[in-house]
Amino acid sequence: MNDTPHACAVCWLNGRLVSPGEARVSVFDHGLLYGDGVFEGIRFYRRRPFKLEAHLDRMFDSARAIALDLPWSRADLADAVAMTVAAYDGDDGYLRLVATRGEGALGIDPRNCTNPSLFIIADRLSMVARETRERGVRLIIAATRRLSPDALDPRIKSLNYLNHILARIEANHAGADEAILLDAAGRVAEGTADNIFVVRCGRLLTPPPVEGALAGITRETVLELAHEAGVEAAEIPLAPYDLYTADECFLTGTGAELIPVAQVNGRRMGTCPGPTYLELARRFHTLVTG
Ligand SMILES: Cc1ncc(COP(=O)(O)O)c(C=O)c1O
Repeated sequence: MNDTPHACAVCWLNGRLVSPGEARVSVFDHGLLYGDGVFEGIRFYRRRPFKLEAHLDRMFDSARAIALDLPWSRADLADAVAMTVAAYDGDDGYLRLVATRGEGALGIDPRNCTNPSLFIIADRLSMVARETRERGVRLIIAATRRLSPDALDPRIKSLNYLNHILARIEANHAGADEAILLDAAGRVAEGTADNIFVVRCGRLLTPPPVEGALAGITRETVLELAHEAGVEAAEIPLAPYDLYTADECFLTGTGAELIPVAQVNGRRMGTCPGPTYLELARRFHTLVTG
């Protein structure tokens, strides 16, 4: 296995496959200058993109929400994804689809840009080492709050991740594996790139999206798997107290998949990995590889 960064990556840029070294966007692209753009992360298993339709729905909704007219149809995007996966040297991997406002004059006004840019990267992505996944991750609750929905609707998967990066820096400085962001009211929102679940007295609980978390596609999948497994689930606001006193806790996301949580701010979970996590992780693995 080659460990040079991006050595295995495949890139599709504005209509054609290019080598990672050639895959460049302009310094005048407003995606870079102002974070003006949207993205998706999609895993593929056995060369099949998982939940592609849901990801394309969210990508088009995010673009519409920021008034970014994508000059590609869903079929164009699906074809581009298929071309990128076919060119990738591996059965399993991660795709990053990014649509930016495109090149334009300096100045924030999106009317300065007339040609949106689209690129897709296929690469490997592992959020945590295998041993960390087995023993469970340590979380901190970050001082950095998630942007409130009236500042930026969390359903928009935009290129603005700076407050999540600040939370992650807090986790790094604290020697933790991941940070949880609270919303402006102090309720649990989500991780820096993942949603959060707790189990309490056999019930699976997760904060409602819209209020402060991305409506994660893995989150939705886990709720469906819980339903199939006969696990009672509820979307309710959670406080830090609910994390500290949980029987089990785990994170979900396309990059993360399912990751068990061992501790939150030094408080140990009841069990890690717990039985509910193990059952849902087993069902998730069967679903994605089935
Ligand atoms: C902030 C945030 N929350 C949650 C998630 C998980 O969403 P999904 O399961 O759709 O990947 C992500 C994924 O990138 C994210 O960036």
